[in-house]
Amino acid sequence: MIELGVNIDHIATVRQARRTFEPDPVWAAALSELGGADGITVHLREDRRHINDRDVQLLRQTVTAKLNLEMACEKEIVSIACELRPDQATIVPERREEITTEGGLDVLSQKTRIGNIVSQLREHGIVVSLFLAPEPEQIRAGIACGCEAVELHTGSYATAKPGCERRHERERLAEAGRMIVDAGLLLHAGHGLTYHNVLPIAALDGMKELNIGHSIIARALMVGLKEAVAEMKRLINVPGSSRYGWPENGG
Ligand code: PXP
Repeated sequence: MIELGVNIDHIATVRQARRTFEPDPVWAAALSELGGADGITVHLREDRRHINDRDVQLLRQTVTAKLNLEMACEKEIVSIACELRPDQATIVPERREEITTEGGLDVLSQKTRIGNIVSQLREHGIVVSLFLAPEPEQIRAGIACGCEAVELHTGSYATAKPGCERRHERERLAEAGRMIVDAGLLLHAGHGLTYHNVLPIAALDGMKELNIGHSIIARALMVGLKEAVAEMKRLINVPGSSRYGWPENGG
């Protein structure tokens, strides 16, 4: 079975748009687990633009599925990870200006540094995955770092034109996937996967885990919006008819 890691960063993005308490990623994690998520994935960015320290602490206490922390190779974040002990850490590149994680990690140019961080995390009982583009040299360097898993960056596949271009990107992922599986490592993939493009990636030989965020959160808004609007309309017109208490309305 392929495990689904649900990335809930964008629940926190909506909360941070108003710096309020809702929606709470901790609730989103619980609902994702109820829906069958095998893992909850969050990226604690250095600038804390969405997920923050309070979220990761509470998620560590409440998530019963696998907690996967996406993190940059930065001293502060590494020490938070060692203390938090998520079940898994996925090391990603991070740039402040980017809208989302734009490329894979460049392991080739910093093998020793990344190798040391991998060992440090593993010594704390954390399974370590590296987020890599499907480039053979990066994959070889990643495997040599001593990690247990590689998450292939599916961004180029997701943005490729359906047809020839997308098939080419899938082939690159398949080749990289073979290298990872042949080396005895766990094969993960993620980024830009949607209900429309996920199946060819799920079908890659040896696929173990897919991490999907934006598309699931976007769909959750759409399938849940109708009910949320109907609930507000009932509340303002026929207050007593609401299924919920809405405590503060009592004054
Ligand atoms: N995997 C990794 C390593 C990521 O950085 C992200 C984005 O935070 C994802 C998966 C999920 O990507 P998306 O939100 O496009 O599904």
